Parts: sequence; structure tokens; C-alpha cells
Amino acid sequence: MQNSANRSSETVLVTGGAGFIGCAISASLLESFGRVVVVDNLHPQIHESGSRPEGLADGVELIVADITEASTWDRVLPDLKPDVVIHLAAETGTGQSLEEATRHTHVNVVGTSQLLDGFLRNNALPRRIVLTSSRAVYGEGAWRNSEGAFFYPGQRTSETLDKSEWDFPNAEPTAMKASEVFPAPVSVYGATKLAQEHILQAWAKSYGVETAILRLQNVYGPGQSLINPYTGIMSLFCRMAMGGRSIPLYEDGQVRRDFILIDDVASAVVAGATSARTHPTPLDIGSGEFQTIGTAAETIAARYGAPAPHVTGQYRQGDVRHAWADVSAATSVLDWAPRFNLEQGIARLADWIDSQPDVRPA
Ligand SMILES: NC(=O)c1ccc[n+]([C@@H]2O[C@H](COP(=O)([O-])OP(=O)(O)OC[C@H]3O[C@@H](n4cnc5c(N)ncnc54)[C@H](O)[C@@H]3O)[C@@H](O)[C@H]2O)c1
Repeated sequence: MQNSANRSSETVLVTGGAGFIGCAISASLLESFGRVVVVDNLHPQIHESGSRPEGLADGVELIVADITEASTWDRVLPDLKPDVVIHLAAETGTGQSLEEATRHTHVNVVGTSQLLDGFLRNNALPRRIVLTSSRAVYGEGAWRNSEGAFFYPGQRTSETLDKSEWDFPNAEPTAMKASEVFPAPVSVYGATKLAQEHILQAWAKSYGVETAILRLQNVYGPGQSLINPYTGIMSLFCRMAMGGRSIPLYEDGQVRRDFILIDDVASAVVAGATSARTHPTPLDIGSGEFQTIGTAAETIAARYGAPAPHVTGQYRQGDVRHAWADVSAATSVLDWAPRFNLEQGIARLADWIDSQPDVRPA
């Protein structure tokens, strides 16, 4: 990794840092920064016990507070004055966001603007802000028609999905690449992540603050919440297979996703915080290759000796057909590369789930 300088005297603030990604980066951050402070409200949908997660490295200071409250920042920032901020706190349920649009918008959009207003009110402008955005900003992304030209197919409708028309006819999907593919979210969650990006970019340019915006694909692995029913398809599949169930596959099982192991996301986020270079536009973070959901489910079923997965033909509003990242910009700017393939990642996830006390089959 290419560090710009010895940052050991610097302070990093991590919002939502008690969650899946926050815990995974916590030990590395302690190696790169003199002080690591997390602000997290220990949301009950993710934190069943409401206490400090075991995965959060010793030495990290945890402040239990809500990012959407102006008073949080007036309490935290005057003492802290962070050099670098990693903004992770968010409501993350894609499907749930369609039913609870206000909650998602409030935390993701207003939470971000409250943080930025807090920096100004408390004379605490950071040097850099890292935002974990999402592949959800692309929606269905760009496809190529039969002549090879890019087009934006827009949102799939209930009418076509009810007829099991999963793909866009006579067209091929393409990789998600920020420099080529325009964002066009099809979920409220995706729209709030795009709003976060735009608000942060406009604000940061005005105040000369560096930004690193990372559009993450599907993150999975040890440490992911086993109780949040709205995120984490890989851990859900593991818990189904563990209970001897055949994993149900939505649509025709051929939905493509780019599953990236948490270790590879952690190294990308830490690189975003410490790299010598930043990039004015977002960077795509994934494993760089796609898998079908069916392949992922088969690998998990084999690991647990469960029956083969089965196609249900069901679908979920807000889900996109295919998604995978072109990681070339991220590898060159961040001097980072994904290291784990699907088999290695599933083995690590399943071993971790097996070691968890009181884990319930789904
Ligand atoms: N995990 C993925 O697959 C994935 C993919 C793309 C983007 N992301 C983004 O990465 C970030 C972190 O995701 P994660 O997987 O670690 O999620 P997570 O749910 O495990 O962690 C989010 C943390 O934010 C906290 N939080 C929620 N609302 C808060 C509030 N109002 N005030 C303070 N804290 C609050 C929660 O308690 C939790 O600890 C999010 O911004 C998410 O949009 C994640």
C-alpha cells in the first residue's frame, strides 16, 4: 500500500464503525492512525445485544450516538478534529428502503449533511473524507444492444417480471465502471447513496477537502450480521444450507453478482483513507468478476452437504438483473487489488459461521 506519509499522529473518525465493514477495518486503522474514534448508534437491526461488538479492535474509542443529530457532532467534533473521516453509517436494506423510504433517506442523506454542517460549525474540517457508496447507484447499469452500442434499459417493471422476462431482450450487460456508466438507481437505497456522493462532492470541492468515493459491490464474509434479514445473502444461504434446506433462487438463478470478500473491501477502504492519491470521481470496488447467484448457492450447498438449490421464479422489487465492477481505476489509484476468489471466500465465511455460538439455521 502506498501511504503518503507517516500518519501516526493523525485522528480518523469512522461513522457506523461498529458495523460489518467498520469492525473489519478497525485493526488496520490503529496501525495507520494515532487515534481511531467510532460514532455508531448500535442500531438494533444489526446489533442484537446493543453492546460493543467483539470484532471492534481494542484501542478504538466507541461513542454511541446518532449521526443524524446535530448535537452529536457538536459534542464529538470540538475535541476530536479528525484528519480523516470514513463515512460508513447508513441504512443499507435495498428492498426495505422501498417500504421505509423516509428512514433510509433520513439516515443516509440527512445524516451526511448533518456531519458536513457539524464540521463547519465546529471549525473541524478534515483533510479527507472516504465514503462507502454502492453499486446500487447504477441501477441496471448500461447494456450493449445488438450493434454493440451502450444504452440504459432503465427499470424492470412488474409487467415484464411477472412474465419471467428477466433480461433486456437482444442486449448484453456490461461491467459497472464510474468513468463510463452513468448512475441510474432503481431503489430508494441506491438513490440515497447517489445523493450522498453528490452532496459530499459538491461540499468537499467548495472547502478543499479530498474525497475518496468507493462504490462497493456485494460484500460478504466473516463478521457480517447474522440477524439482519435485509442484507447478507451469502450468510443467509449458509444458514439455509446449514439447516439442510435447498436454497431458493430468485428469477432463474442466473442473476449475476460481484461478491467481494470483506478482507478485500477492508483493504480498499483503508487504502482510500491512507493512499497518496485520490481520484475526483468514484472508484468501483469488487472482485472484478461476476458469479451467478446459482453458482454461489451451489458452492455453499456443497460446503454444507445440503440438497441442490432450486429456482423459484420469484423476484424482488428493486433488485437489478446483473452487477459487477471494472476495478481497473481502483487498482491504479489505490494501489490495491482483490485477493480472494469465491471458493476461498465462502470457505472463510462458512468456517466463521460454524464457530459462532447460538447461530440459527434459516
Ligand atoms: N455490506 C455491503 O454489501 C455494502 C455494499 C455497498 C455499500 N455498502 C456501504 O458500506 C457502509 C457500511 O456497510 P456495512 O455492511 O458495514 O453495514 P452495517 O449495517 O454492518 O454497518 C452500519 C453501521 O452503521 C450504524 N448506524 C446505522 N444508522 C446509524 C445512525 N443513524 N447513527 C449512527 N450509526 C448508525 C449501525 O449501527 C452499523 O453499526 C454503508 O454505507 C453501506 O451503504 C455496504
